[in-house]
Amino acid sequence: MAKRDDSMPKHIGIIMDGNGRWAKAKGLPRKYGHKQGAKTFRKISEYCSEIGIECLTVYAFSTENWSRPQEEIDSIMQLLNDYLDEAFSKKNKNKGYRTKFIGDISRLDKNLQEKIKRIETETAQYNKFTLNVALNYGGRDEIVQALRKISEKISNGELSASEIDENIVSSNLYTSGQPDPDLIIRPSGEKRTSNFLVWQSAYSEYVFMNVLWPDFTTKHLDEAIEEYKTRNRRYGGI
Ligand code: FPP
Repeated sequence: MAKRDDSMPKHIGIIMDGNGRWAKAKGLPRKYGHKQGAKTFRKISEYCSEIGIECLTVYAFSTENWSRPQEEIDSIMQLLNDYLDEAFSKKNKNKGYRTKFIGDISRLDKNLQEKIKRIETETAQYNKFTLNVALNYGGRDEIVQALRKISEKISNGELSASEIDENIVSSNLYTSGQPDPDLIIRPSGEKRTSNFLVWQSAYSEYVFMNVLWPDFTTKHLDEAIEEYKTRNRRYGGI
């Protein structure tokens, strides 16, 4: 088990990739891959909170994922709905996760939107571990939304163009007030960043791993953290 110390990443991002390939390899429909992926997500989020990670952001559904077959979209939304129902249970409340959804949730089913708002309100007071679920999320879309908010503030005289700096942009993103991710993990063998935390990942360390997300274990997370600890983060300095 990874030990808590200063060299540990505070914020980890995970692109939960490879569910479809996992199911295909077993001759199963893709939705079984997502179901297994949701189980892995529960295990890994619990482990992150146990080992002292402050924030975990998982990519659950991108702005581009709407192009998938309706049946697959429905199965992912159902898994999210099940997770939300579970998160309201007493057992989970005691875990003390602050749960936030990042992305444009206005396109989701009204019932799901209400559950999301309720869980965000009910868990807002927790501060030990924050779980961000990226849902209908796109990094570029997030920047566009931030630009709209900033423009409105300029139009109504709250802000002037010359005052815009990196802090202003950061504070208008969905992740406002949170630390940027130190480590981003992408399993499944793909080596792309796929529109995930585009602004926030400017100085993140990436670890790409050859394991499909449903097979990802706490050992893989330990391995990624060990790899992260060997990196020499210079932030553009020497
Ligand atoms: C990427 O694998 C995975 C997704 C688009 C969905 C991720 C969703 C879950 C893990 C379940 C719901 C989440 C929560 C938080 C309860 P892919 O389908 O692109 O895999 P492939 O590249 O092998 O086809």
